[in-house]
Amino acid sequence: MTRVIKIAIDGPAAAGKSTIAKMTAEKLGYTYIDTGAMYRALAHKAISHSIDTSNGEELHSLLMETEIVLSPSKAGQAVIVDGVDVTKEIRSQQVTAQVSAVAVHSGVRELMVEKQRQLAEGTGVVMDGRDIGTAVLPNAELKIFMTASVEERALRRHIENIQHGITTSLDELKAEISERDRADSEREVSPLCQAQDAVLIDTTSMSIEEVANQISELAEKRIRL
Ligand code: DC
Repeated sequence: MTRVIKIAIDGPAAAGKSTIAKMTAEKLGYTYIDTGAMYRALAHKAISHSIDTSNGEELHSLLMETEIVLSPSKAGQAVIVDGVDVTKEIRSQQVTAQVSAVAVHSGVRELMVEKQRQLAEGTGVVMDGRDIGTAVLPNAELKIFMTASVEERALRRHIENIQHGITTSLDELKAEISERDRADSEREVSPLCQAQDAVLIDTTSMSIEEVANQISELAEKRIRL
């Protein structure tokens, strides 16, 4: 029988993790889990309930009574919060600006990690985020740390936004991405950092296909081990 593995993909904002994770999961027939979407879902609910994102206790209570379902869809993954599809809403500028503040709280992270481990139990998964290789799935058979220059990441997000009919200034995107990198790397609990046993892939001058192929090759090797 073919061995089923867990793949952790971490890295800074807008490095292309979700695109690659989705492609890899599809190729292997694994479940794709976008953990950033879970933090975004909580940030979105907190904003709509006018909860201060610096209040860790209130956010923890809110998360306790929140059902987040990640459901495979044509576009990749639908995010359903308490029965309502918020897939689009969680990508808003307002949520993007607040999500790192939501993700700093230890109580919130503990609950999220628990939920994420449950989702990964007993199945082949490709999970992307910031702390997957270091905290959520420390025993993942394959760990990738995917990065790219901030200029390249801002440009990619800019093009993606244009394709979705959203106009954003390249400079503003660069500033927003740099700020999120700083907040995610400097937080006390499970900051963004490369796991010791992760493979570093700098995608700055690589195409999506090149990155996907490199990861698929690494995955095949691990599966055959
Ligand atoms: O991957 P993303 O940009 O959608 O993630 C949104 C935010 O969620 C990110 O800025 C930091 C936080 N996050 C986290 O702290 N840990 C994760 N495993 C995933 C995301």
